[in-house]
Amino acid sequence: MSELNKIALKIISNGKGILAADESNGTMTKRLKAVNVNSTAENRLLFREILLSSECMKDCIGGVILYDETINQTTSFGKSIPDLISSSGAVPGIKVDTGAKVLANSSEEKITEGLDNLRDRLKKYYQLGARFTKWRGVFTISDNYPTKLAINSNAHALARYSALVQESGMVPIVEPELLMDGEHTSDVCFSKTSEVIQKCFEELILHKVDLSGVILKPNMILSGNQSKEKISSQEVSKKTLECLKNSVPSEVPGIAFLSGGQSELEATENLDLINKNNNTNFIMTYSFGRALQQSALKLWSKNIKDLKTTQRTFNHRAKMCTLAAQGKWANELENK
Ligand code: 13P
Repeated sequence: MSELNKIALKIISNGKGILAADESNGTMTKRLKAVNVNSTAENRLLFREILLSSECMKDCIGGVILYDETINQTTSFGKSIPDLISSSGAVPGIKVDTGAKVLANSSEEKITEGLDNLRDRLKKYYQLGARFTKWRGVFTISDNYPTKLAINSNAHALARYSALVQESGMVPIVEPELLMDGEHTSDVCFSKTSEVIQKCFEELILHKVDLSGVILKPNMILSGNQSKEKISSQEVSKKTLECLKNSVPSEVPGIAFLSGGQSELEATENLDLINKNNNTNFIMTYSFGRALQQSALKLWSKNIKDLKTTQRTFNHRAKMCTLAAQGKWANELENK
């Protein structure tokens, strides 16, 4: 087993999943504004240190993705954030892309940037304790999108990123996200997601990336949020499994889904059914941002000093997600 494969498995085995706490300052400001909390560096740290000191960190969370500001912060009790994460047995990770910018000659689509100086930035993050990284390529779905230009350029960037990350001794999370915005059906989401994922792996292979040391972070197969089609969680799970079975090389150890704007319950139920129906050899777990933090953030905003209620809420959500990652979740457990 390679070192990278060991790290990947440590993050996603035994029902453990990933807490995506890597909101950029811009995104975090949006999230905090929505609950009327000032977006200061202190408040961003406070919320995150409360989550990272929670009990569920030990049994449920295998890895935490951080943003540059957070990986450099020290908690109010004197521990560095990466040390706090490691002390619970989880692996610190870091978002290393620098965001999605307008793609030249396809003005409505985006290309994710961040390859400049990446090798040097990775060295610094490794020294700070990171052992895995994330890069998100983002695609819109419509009749004409994503274009081949957007697919090929983002897949190329994801492959160059992955090769550099592995060279520096860390596991790359490869995240090609097809957004749920739009009127498309789940079948359109299926075919476009398949095309994007296949192109990503074609490029990863070309760039000699060790696939046993990669975690794929895809969207689930859903109909668009403006679509007339309403599909059941059973259908979501079957289509998602079929897509991944056909598009992901078998060497990849695991798949950690993003929640992408689904509610906490939807994301949990869909993940649970994906695991109950799992007919692949891939570990299927979560790498949720909003679907792990939403309720906790709402409660915290009512009294930012109330650590206990926030942690109780986060512990519950993480526990439900970890049950779903083993196909052991049931709706009745939500109210226990
Ligand atoms: P969501 O689960 O809120 O979609 O966030 C996951 C993520 O990391 C997006 O890049």
